[in-house]
Amino acid sequence: MKNIDSRTHVRGESIYLDDIPVIRGTLFGAAFGSPVAHGVIRHLDLTVAEAMPGVVRILTYKDVTGENQIGGIVPDEPLLAEHHVHYCGMPIAFVVAATDDEARAAVKKISVDIDPLPVITDPREAQALDELIIRPRTFRLGDTATAWEQCAYIFDGTADTNGQEHLYIETQGAYAVPQENNGIKLYSSTQGPTAVQRAVARSSGLPMHQIDVDVTRLGGGFGGKEDQANMWAALCALAAHILRKPVKYALHRMEDMAMTGKRHPYSSDFKIGLDNDLKIVAYEATFYQNAGAAADLSPAVMERTLFHCTNSYFIPNVTATAYCCRTNLPPNTAFRGFGGPQGMFVIEAAITKAAESLGVDAAIIQAQNLNKTGDEFPYGQKAVSESHICWNKAQDVYEIDVIRGQIAAFNDTSTLYKKGLALMPVCFGISFTNTRMNQARALVHVYTDGSVGVSTGAVEMGQGVNTKMVQVAAHVLSIQSERVKLHSTSTYRIANTSPSAASATADLNGKAVEMACTSIIQRLKAVVAEELQVSVDEITLKDEFVYWGDKKTDWYWQRLVMAAYTKRVSLSEHAHYATPDIHYDATKEKGHPFAYHVYGTAIVEVTVDCLRGTYEVDAVKVVHDFGVSMNPLVDRGQIEGGIVQGIGWMTMEEVVFDKAGRLRSNALSTYKVPDIYSVPKQIIIEPLKTEQDNQAIFRSKAVGEPPLMYGIGAYFALRNAVLAFNPAATIPFDAPMTPEKVLLALYNVNAIRRTMPFANDQTANSLEINP
Ligand code: MTE
Ligand code: HPA
Ligand code: MOS
Repeated sequence: MKNIDSRTHVRGESIYLDDIPVIRGTLFGAAFGSPVAHGVIRHLDLTVAEAMPGVVRILTYKDVTGENQIGGIVPDEPLLAEHHVHYCGMPIAFVVAATDDEARAAVKKISVDIDPLPVITDPREAQALDELIIRPRTFRLGDTATAWEQCAYIFDGTADTNGQEHLYIETQGAYAVPQENNGIKLYSSTQGPTAVQRAVARSSGLPMHQIDVDVTRLGGGFGGKEDQANMWAALCALAAHILRKPVKYALHRMEDMAMTGKRHPYSSDFKIGLDNDLKIVAYEATFYQNAGAAADLSPAVMERTLFHCTNSYFIPNVTATAYCCRTNLPPNTAFRGFGGPQGMFVIEAAITKAAESLGVDAAIIQAQNLNKTGDEFPYGQKAVSESHICWNKAQDVYEIDVIRGQIAAFNDTSTLYKKGLALMPVCFGISFTNTRMNQARALVHVYTDGSVGVSTGAVEMGQGVNTKMVQVAAHVLSIQSERVKLHSTSTYRIANTSPSAASATADLNGKAVEMACTSIIQRLKAVVAEELQVSVDEITLKDEFVYWGDKKTDWYWQRLVMAAYTKRVSLSEHAHYATPDIHYDATKEKGHPFAYHVYGTAIVEVTVDCLRGTYEVDAVKVVHDFGVSMNPLVDRGQIEGGIVQGIGWMTMEEVVFDKAGRLRSNALSTYKVPDIYSVPKQIIIEPLKTEQDNQAIFRSKAVGEPPLMYGIGAYFALRNAVLAFNPAATIPFDAPMTPEKVLLALYNVNAIRRTMPFANDQTANSLEINP
């Protein structure tokens, strides 16, 4: 089935926040963010701004009618700063004016005196100062302390990954419309309507039932709107509540880039020990997560780093510790993979370090250590593994030996261009790591004309979940998909939703839709069985008709629906689904947190221009574990998009904060994302169809996040291309591998520095990549 949004998308008719017709009298908000990253507010001067044309009101923390707090996991994030500011861009005041432009003009006239405090941007520095947001956590399997003795080889090192800007095409925003008796209707570009509802309830002081959050779709979220849509919605709602006028705020790109958190940068230490057969005997990792100035989702992201710290490998002795480090950056947040990619990068770096030191291909170590069914993850769950089959199938269908041969031949004859190859296995757990979030509800109404309305807690953000929900309803009801309409996601129709995240949206909400439709079908079957005077067990529905045994009857869908209505049988159902059998005990760091895992292997091929340091990704060839895809086109889109986003993170996207905590890469002129010219020239996806039961909807495994991690292969492929040019290159594990870093590595910057005529001491220092 094609994506139900394709027609309106192509025609520009799909409705996003900024397309909602604005009610007359609507006011526009704009936030004034802290100009410094850390300090104490001495004086806030609003007088000039208040006198600006169109300004209706400027709100500060003093105006907050409820609790000045929006922190979800830890209450450490005020809606508006009181006395302290903790990051550049932290909202201090909210201007409400007659127009968008007037609100922004007034923001520029606000001045604030801040006594600066020391700024921390580095997570290791934060950890040394005990600036931790939650207690450190350690996952353990076996005993690394004694295991080192069994190792023939031990290597250690550090591995760093930078942040990543979400760059959803639609920026953050909200539109709050006051309703009678203090109610508020909120349109919000959020992955988590209930998260917005809670944040608004808390900060306004209204009960949740007064707040209807309604979401039609997002122009992308990628995790950036799992929690961080709350701020803007709460500000608009507060203003609407106080002024009894509709208030809208849609952030400009630069506001969005400067004020919202990103993927967490991590700095990590690793130690890996192998035996003579290159089996990994022991692995230790310490992760320093750069959480930013408030908890946001960092504790959960950190947990997923630990869950995925061994990627697809079975390692009998593991000790992995993670620190959630408070720094003076905007609070970092969910981003596709949710900490998993950061954990996987480190184990891949460790394997690569071992391989390079031993002079073997990393793929030999990778293959030797892939997990098998029954192997225990460090958190206690046993694998139902597709690792070997994905890996082997990738080698076979893509003829890895041929590829290797071609690359070797190319590199033998080419001096200025070198090719590199890397394999990237992926194993990603599906479920919210917070067990209680694994629940969902659906509301299905069959109308008397036979059309069907479905509401769920799922938010469409381009990933195609609404299409999948329609497929589930149409399939279970045995009707054409055109009869099914998916309604916007509203907290009045579906309560207490988990955000659309963790790749689990289609599974959780789809199962609820399946349950609701099954209940309705059972009632309809009883109606027709009674009419036909036959047993319900003999009744089936197929292609909109009732069958009695094999015999097609003249009972068609609308007739059936009308008969049920006439008999006063309910044509509506609300169903609740909770993922069975998952549990986790954080005091022991053991349990069974995931419904299942998604596996895959990618082969990534790159070519480096060794004169310029620029590169191209020639191909990404994947074997991906779909289970049984219920929508191969939608799923292909997810895989292609995930791969490109992963490659962007690993290669060109470079978030730069200066020492003062100011974002320097604050626009698309300074922050480079993959464009059509830099996507891989070839992406081939070979499905691994797994027939056995899993807990996915219709056995169609979750696909949203796992493919991002195939992109990690691009980093290691580039590294191999550089080493093909300069085998003596010393390349720190420090992603992204930008063209600048490639160039420095190609010519071993330490050697170059001495001879560069223009290099004064200062530029030499700034060039130093491997101190
Ligand atoms: N695809 C598109 N087009 N836009 C998005 O914002 N978000 C990703 C992924 N794919 C995203 C996307 C993230 S972070 C997640 S968790 C999943 O989609 C969420 O949707 P799902 O649970 O339906 O897979
Ligand atoms: N993924 C995404 N969001 C989450 C998770 C998760 O595992 N846990 C809590 N929020
Ligand atoms: Mo996705 S990072 O779980 O929104």
